[in-house]
Amino acid sequence: MAVAPMATVITIDGPVSSGKGTIARRVAQRLGWHLLDSGALYRLLGLHARDLGVSLDDEQALVALARELPCRFVEQNGDLLIELAGKDVTDYLRTEEVGELASRVAVHQPVRDALMGRQQAFAVQPGLVADGRDMGTVVFTQAPLKIYLTASAEERARRRYNQLKEKGFGANLAALVEDIRNRDARDMNRDVAPLKPADDALVIDSTDMTIDDVLHRILDEARRRTLV
Ligand code: C5P
Repeated sequence: MAVAPMATVITIDGPVSSGKGTIARRVAQRLGWHLLDSGALYRLLGLHARDLGVSLDDEQALVALARELPCRFVEQNGDLLIELAGKDVTDYLRTEEVGELASRVAVHQPVRDALMGRQQAFAVQPGLVADGRDMGTVVFTQAPLKIYLTASAEERARRRYNQLKEKGFGANLAALVEDIRNRDARDMNRDVAPLKPADDALVIDSTDMTIDDVLHRILDEARRRTLV
């Protein structure tokens, strides 16, 4: 039986609050492609472990949870609804508290391995936009367009602040800058899958760009490479 070729993948990696979630969603909507929010998987796992009282340092227990993670991603009019054990956790997942749990489970290589197949399974026709930290460097190394999206820590903290306020969560800007710097340090300096641009990534610094500027830059590049 012929094996279906893997769908075309555009990877969008970058540090926390670089805008990659928003951009990935917009690119996927524009192209009518699927969307993988890989950070959500780490967030789900961190949350699930905490809910079940599993230590975030217990590699083997985390691997077992990662394999059985009872989650569901539902694409609804271009938006993504995320359920954990039958409960809608879409908004709660985005909180700093859960981000912290995610970043702690993400340092374990066996945990990352356990989530690999689940992520690659998203690469189906007509195409996939994959958002994360290691989409271009580890999970989809063959992707024909890899974006590394970044912005200054201050600008990212400001964006995060506005996002949290909009969702009705309390936020403190100075604490967010500090939090973002800590999270960057942890993501960039960890031994396994450290955050860095793939050698063949297109680096976009969005500090002084609007969301539309970034969107058009990526779509232009996809057209130039005849991916769309
Ligand atoms: O992208 P997001 O902020 O949702 O990711 C939460 C955390 O999950 C990150 O800080 C990072 O530690 C981890 N992560 C990862 N690899 C990915 C996506 C997220 O290690 N591909």
